[in-house]
Amino acid sequence: MNISTRDIREAKGRRPIVGITAYDAVMAHYADKSGVDFILVGDSVGTTQLGFETTVPVTLEMMLHHTAAVARAQPRALLVADMPFALARADFDKLMDASCRLMQEAGAEAVKIEGDAALAPHVARLTSAGIPVMGHIGLLPQQFHQLGGYRTYGRTESEKQVLLEDALALEEAGCFAILCEMTDSMFSGTLSSELKVPLIGIGSGPHCDGQILVSNDVLGLGHKPVPSFVKEYVQLGDQVESAFSAYVEEVRNRRFPS
Ligand code: KIV
Repeated sequence: MNISTRDIREAKGRRPIVGITAYDAVMAHYADKSGVDFILVGDSVGTTQLGFETTVPVTLEMMLHHTAAVARAQPRALLVADMPFALARADFDKLMDASCRLMQEAGAEAVKIEGDAALAPHVARLTSAGIPVMGHIGLLPQQFHQLGGYRTYGRTESEKQVLLEDALALEEAGCFAILCEMTDSMFSGTLSSELKVPLIGIGSGPHCDGQILVSNDVLGLGHKPVPSFVKEYVQLGDQVESAFSAYVEEVRNRRFPS
């Protein structure tokens, strides 16, 4: 049976929820075989696959292309697609149209939207139209240029208050889960206990209801340093490089084809 948003909601308090990003059918196939609960086609596709410095240049067309590729792997895991830069803050019709395209054309089963309590009215309209939404609070990479860099959120009392209000407003608007990126580890525990829906952390410590990581980081498959909270389970980049080098060497020395 495929995993639904309801399964994710009901897992809270019972077992840790696990998510991973994927951007194509091959990686989605392996991610799904691992038993993850959800696969996120993150707009991190921009930095991990497309060579951009930030996620800001990622467009809806790019998200549709990559989400459709992941959907073709027919994962059992819930398939969540990221809403790209600024669209959630555009007028509601554009957001609705983008959400419908991600679900109807590309095969997403839910959308993830970066943003605070100000987005709650839009989120409420989406969820009442049957579009499952995962919230995303804390560090919002799409606001990189506005923020001027990445840092941990929820260390001061005022930031804690704002984050709690954001999370509760998004829950009230119908989000089935809320992702928190780089929020203070202890405060994430408080957030999780204040919410009825699962809190999925990335760089937010062990007290969340679940975790997500970017697949390239988990696999050691990138040419840039990974954030300090990441655990690289394998150095696939090194293995890819040595396989390519062996191929080049064998062709040059007329040992392949034999
Ligand atoms: O795009 C992405 O990969 C994300 C991460 C926070 C998981 O949103």
